Amino acid sequence: QKVQWTQKIAAAGVVAVIRANSVSEAVKISDAVIAGGMRAIELTFTVPQADQAIKEVKTKFAQPDLIIGAGTVFEPTSARLAIMAGAQFIVSPSFNSAVAKLCNFYQIPYIPGCGTVNEMQKALTYGADIIKLFPGSVYGPAMVKSVLAPLPQVNLMPTGGVNLDNMADWFAAGVIAVGSGSQLTRPAATGDYQQVTANAQAYMSKLADLRQ
Ligand code: 3PG
Repeated sequence: QKVQWTQKIAAAGVVAVIRANSVSEAVKISDAVIAGGMRAIELTFTVPQADQAIKEVKTKFAQPDLIIGAGTVFEPTSARLAIMAGAQFIVSPSFNSAVAKLCNFYQIPYIPGCGTVNEMQKALTYGADIIKLFPGSVYGPAMVKSVLAPLPQVNLMPTGGVNLDNMADWFAAGVIAVGSGSQLTRPAATGDYQQVTANAQAYMSKLADLRQ
């Protein structure tokens, strides 16, 4: 299951990172990005009652090719809450060994944030499935190329500062997926969910071009 869900994230290509002020807002943003063709949703634990948001999104938008996970999971209590709510992957800005063990126990892909090869090595030792290069924009695509030379087996997913303009550079450097939050969902702040859908469509059409 861990491998299968990791492959689903790679197939989705872009993980929509959803931060919102309420469960209902998180559901609306999820709806908008799914309508735009996105297939991987990360609901962050900065959303109040994030586990509830995971449950609702999973129930409302159940589709076989959709994968719903939890983000900003710093410690095992939130990880377990997320997994019990149905999260299919766990993302964090940093690495936590207790979260890694829990994800291994439940066979859930773990995607910890790492910024150095040392951190990546540790995360891989604990069975991390994908490494979130975070904050992506601080390191840039050149970091991906450098890391993949000695560690060609690493699945890298940069997040933080990823947008439509730099997406191609990340994939050219060899990442398996990217995470995008603010650039994708910003119009939701003014209630313009149609624009969020349009943004999602633009990401997906760019991805399709890159994968041709
Ligand atoms: C986040 O922390 O919200 C994610 O890393 C997304 O970053 P972004 O908003 O720069 O895409």
